[in-house]
Amino acid sequence: MADGEHGHGAQAKFHAMVDGTQEDWLAIAQASAEFGRGLPDRLIAHMKLLEGDCGGFAIDRLEHSLQTATRAHQAGMDEEYVVCALLHDIGDTLGPRNHADVAAAIVQPFVSERNHWMVANHAIFQGYYFFHHLGLDRNMRDQHRGHPDFEYTAQFCHLFDQEAFDPNFKSMPLEAFEPMLRRVMSSPKRSIYLREKVA
Ligand SMILES: [Fe+2]
Ligand SMILES: [Fe+2]
Repeated sequence: MADGEHGHGAQAKFHAMVDGTQEDWLAIAQASAEFGRGLPDRLIAHMKLLEGDCGGFAIDRLEHSLQTATRAHQAGMDEEYVVCALLHDIGDTLGPRNHADVAAAIVQPFVSERNHWMVANHAIFQGYYFFHHLGLDRNMRDQHRGHPDFEYTAQFCHLFDQEAFDPNFKSMPLEAFEPMLRRVMSSPKRSIYLREKVA
């Protein structure tokens, strides 16, 4: 494959990482930074995959996500929280058995530990509202009693997530959340690929 075949600038020369040079890795780092800037667009495209799949609920998964985020926004929650509310079920498509883990992994570099914990654990907390109808333990969340973010996460599910299945609710459109999503999901705070800042 020739250099620049895809029109994206320089490419590394190595065919195995053991042969990599600093020049190679500068080219890769540059391409990677560019690709990283496209994350908000990919997230928006992925949110649209949730459209049309109701999964047995009264509204589809995109509408549920918009409704959850709209309710959080209207309650005056901050931008990062609203974006977490918007993305909390984005894992439904690729992680139907662990959707909260998928969403949590996506937001983790960009949000506070508290918001990350909330997204990661919302599925167990949401279970309080329906696990008993399926022969499961609705109090599964009690394994986290005493955690500093227990009430914070319980409140997310109670006020916003479990409430957001109403076909008559007027949600804000996905476009209304795009500027918030672009701001929150652009600058990673935590990542193994971030160099420590020199004081
Ligand atoms: Fe969920
Ligand atoms: Fe949800």
